Amino acid sequence: MTQNQLKQATAQAAVDYVAQHLPQGGILGVGTGSTTNFFIAALAPLKDRLGGAVASSEATRQRLTQIGVPVVDLNEVESLAIYVDGADEIDAGLSMMKGGGGALTREKIVAAVANTFVCIADASKQVETLGRFPLPVEVIPMATRQVARRLAALGGNPRLREGFVTDNGNSILDVHGLVITDPVSLEAEINQIVGVVTNGLFAARGADVLLLATEDGVRRVFRP
Ligand code: 5RP
Repeated sequence: MTQNQLKQATAQAAVDYVAQHLPQGGILGVGTGSTTNFFIAALAPLKDRLGGAVASSEATRQRLTQIGVPVVDLNEVESLAIYVDGADEIDAGLSMMKGGGGALTREKIVAAVANTFVCIADASKQVETLGRFPLPVEVIPMATRQVARRLAALGGNPRLREGFVTDNGNSILDVHGLVITDPVSLEAEINQIVGVVTNGLFAARGADVLLLATEDGVRRVFRP
C-alpha cells in the first residue's frame, strides 16, 4: 500500500469512530495536515449528523466549509467530545510530536478542550523515542534569537522555518537533534522560555486513541 492509501485507511477508521461515538448534533474538533485532509474528505456523509466543527487552522476551516460543515468558534463551545488529528511522531505512551504543518498552537488549544483525542497515523509515524523529527516551536518573532539560544543550551539545533508565518502571525523554530526521553518534562521546560508560544510536544495531553494504519489493517491502540 502507498502512504496515501494508509492515510486514507486511518482517515476512514476515524470517520467510523466518530459515527460510533459522537452524539447527534455534537461538535467535532478537527486537526490539520495531509492525513486530516483525507479525514475531512471522508467526513462528508456524516455532515448532517454534526452540529459543527472547531478548526485548528485556517486551512482546515476552508476545507470544512467547502464540504458544508459549519465551523464554530471555540469560544462558543464548552467542551468537545472528540478531536481528530494527525501526528509527525507517536510513541508507545501515545505522546506525540506535532507541528510539521505549523498549526501546533491552535491544535494544542483545541485538543485541550476535547474529551477524547483520536490520533490518525500510518505506521511510519510510530517511534520508540520522540525526536527524529525536528521539534517545532512557535515563537513571537522578536524573541526568535533569544529562544534559539535557549533551545541550543538544551542540546538542540534550532533552525528558523524560512518564509513561514503561522496563522497567529508568529515564527517557527524547528529543533533538530533532540533525543526526547522525558517528553512531559521537556514540553513544560520549553514552554517556560520567554517568547515561546508553544512547542510541538503533545505529551501532557497526548492522544487517547491511536488509529494506526498498517499493511494488515487499522489497529486501535489505547493510551496505557
Ligand atoms: C500540523 C500537524 C500534523 O498533524 C502533522 O504534521 C502530521 O501531518 P501529516 O498528516 O501531513 O503527516 O501537526 O501542524
